[in-house]
Amino acid sequence: MALKPLIAGNWKMNGVGASLDEARAIAEGAAALTSVDLLLCPPATLIGRMAARCAGTPLAIGGQDCHTEIAGAFTGDVSAAMLADAGASHVIVGHSERRTLHGETSALVRQKAEAALAQGLVAIICIGETLAEREAGRTLAVVIDQLQASLPAGADGHTVVIAYEPVWAIGTGKTPTSADVAEVHAGLRAELVRLLGADKGAPVRLLYGGSVKPSNAAELMALPDVNGALVGGASLKSADFLAIAAAV
Ligand code: 13P
Repeated sequence: MALKPLIAGNWKMNGVGASLDEARAIAEGAAALTSVDLLLCPPATLIGRMAARCAGTPLAIGGQDCHTEIAGAFTGDVSAAMLADAGASHVIVGHSERRTLHGETSALVRQKAEAALAQGLVAIICIGETLAEREAGRTLAVVIDQLQASLPAGADGHTVVIAYEPVWAIGTGKTPTSADVAEVHAGLRAELVRLLGADKGAPVRLLYGGSVKPSNAAELMALPDVNGALVGGASLKSADFLAIAAAV
């Protein structure tokens, strides 16, 4: 099934008010890139301003994490309802930096994804193996286990996106071989179809993430069952992010 690719940028804990100029440049460039969907996920502090600055353009705005609850005594947290209220249409959940640095389990990620869906947000669920797991030959087992345990009730092609991000490829300049990416994506597609049925599992977009840049985007995005990218560092510069989107 040919799915419209999604090129998503994760700004992580980068970006201040001045960075909105980069977002605006991406939003303007998005108008010419009609064969892909474009999304930027800035820090929570910028979501409202970015949504206002990019209103009327095809650029969608997302959060990078959300709490499982709508509101309450959870100092420092942001809810899916708040993200939606600020203008977000998507939210990343279960990024490896959250899983590793904040001890998030797949069970928690699933709850977060369910909170996102309840607010009408698309949940971008991240999964990926560590270097030790890859070297032990456990990549497929690890990512399929994460997928099974993280997938929310109500998952389909409209409500969730899966991002495969090998932990060892994030921010390192290293990427798996094309054959390795294709093998993992084929395994994830088969598991999605097994779990959700072909009608719901086949249209779920599968993104690759980890050191995607203009020079490797075309090769990665041409692989079967790679339906877009989740881009970290290269999404901070409009020229690089637009070049990745144009390479699809
Ligand atoms: P880099 O593109 O900087 O490797 O980051 C990938 C990532 O973690 C996106 O979520």
